[in-house]
Amino acid sequence: MPLLIKNGEIVTADARYRADILAEGETITRIGVNLEAPAGAEVIDAAGKLVFPGFIDPHVHVYLPFMATFAKDTHATASRAALIGGTTTFIEMCCPSRNDDALEGYELWKSKAEGQSACDYTFHMSVTKFDENTEAQLRQIVADGITSFKVFLSYKNFFGVEDGELYQTLMLARELGVIVTAHCENAELVSRLQGQLLSEGKTGPEWHEKSRPEEVEAEGTNRFATFLETTGARGYVVHLSCEKALRMALAAKERGVDLTVESVIPHFLLDKTYAERPGVEGAKHVMSPPLRDKRNQKALWDALASGMIDTVGTDHCPFDVAQKELGRDNFTQIPNGIPAIEDRVNLLYTYGVSRGRLDIHRFVDAASTKAAKLFGLFPRKGTIAVGSDADLVVFDPTYRGTISAATHHVNNDYSGFEGFEIDGRPVVVTVRGQVAVRDGQFVGDPARGQLLRRTPTGVRAPAPAEPVA
Ligand code: URP
Ligand code: ZN
Ligand code: ZN
Ligand code: ZN
Repeated sequence: MPLLIKNGEIVTADARYRADILAEGETITRIGVNLEAPAGAEVIDAAGKLVFPGFIDPHVHVYLPFMATFAKDTHATASRAALIGGTTTFIEMCCPSRNDDALEGYELWKSKAEGQSACDYTFHMSVTKFDENTEAQLRQIVADGITSFKVFLSYKNFFGVEDGELYQTLMLARELGVIVTAHCENAELVSRLQGQLLSEGKTGPEWHEKSRPEEVEAEGTNRFATFLETTGARGYVVHLSCEKALRMALAAKERGVDLTVESVIPHFLLDKTYAERPGVEGAKHVMSPPLRDKRNQKALWDALASGMIDTVGTDHCPFDVAQKELGRDNFTQIPNGIPAIEDRVNLLYTYGVSRGRLDIHRFVDAASTKAAKLFGLFPRKGTIAVGSDADLVVFDPTYRGTISAATHHVNNDYSGFEGFEIDGRPVVVTVRGQVAVRDGQFVGDPARGQLLRRTPTGVRAPAPAEPVA
């Protein structure tokens, strides 16, 4: 059925105007003033509403075996929650452990998602070891349309890679034009600090931040940037949390390193006092890199506003209260992660745009367009244009509400953002021309989501040939 969205105010990363949008089939076929509804079309009146391109979450975990347990969501629950919150595409971290082959892992993650997601999705392929089979397998995965890698410089002996493996990954990525995303913390220092704190009887969640201090993240960020500089690969720092690490990333950008930066919504709004709450209340807010001292939040907001931080993701990673209790007597065993897939857009709009910290176009760019461009989805995703997928978010900026586990849709029994007010939310969300959300409820096709196969965005022009003497 054709879909006509009338009278809305379209807001993209670089434009704002009033027009109607017609979607026929899966794509936008016309944008104009006073468009006629074709026979049989569904008409949505968006008067008084903003119309954004579908938002893209560049960093989520859905299926995740991690820290002796599994993250709580399925692709069904995560994709519905994403859509209710305005996210129409997510990029999931495919994370085999060091004991598994890349290709086995990739096939497993694909099988978990296939036919189970209501929104579109793709993967960042984690390289968690680099042995004699890895290169050929990664070439196969890239040929299947997965054109971004992920490395962990943390989580020693589980997901983490050694420097030599990082080098091999970056050299291959450079050749293939693949961008490499990286969790930047110094694994050795984290492990030493954890051991020291535990030996002093410091076992509660309030010690988590002390075991991975800002300088440990700054070192990882600087090391990653140095490896990019040396190999000429393109990189993307995930979940950058603090000013010290930001300085390293900005210094690298300034000297021309091809580095982009993501921060995630928890680090903009939650500080380390949340994780210092006693017992499981603190554990609910344990993630890595940790929630930081509040003074870092201003640095993140300023860098986001100026475009020095490129994208905002979630690092969505839900573990329930019982799972968080696994670390009751030892903070190093608290499963790391905070759920946020449903709340990212509303929180970023509220505490960014509505409260005057963030230009509305930078908001769209950081939450959608920039990720589409970096990860090979643009202009199919990330904008409102004729020919683009009709992934649209009709957003009511006058809505007022409060985030709560009592009303959220993520498969988890707590919210990291319990009690946070929101100014605005999506009222209608479409996935490739089909309505998926109405008035905060999922009404779509639970299996509509497709795996988005991509082409590499970073293939460089060959170096000019040496002039013949
Ligand atoms: O605490 C976190 N971030 N959990 C998910 C795994 C990761 O490091 O992204
Ligand atoms: Zn991470
Ligand atoms: Zn993550
Ligand atoms: Zn603007």
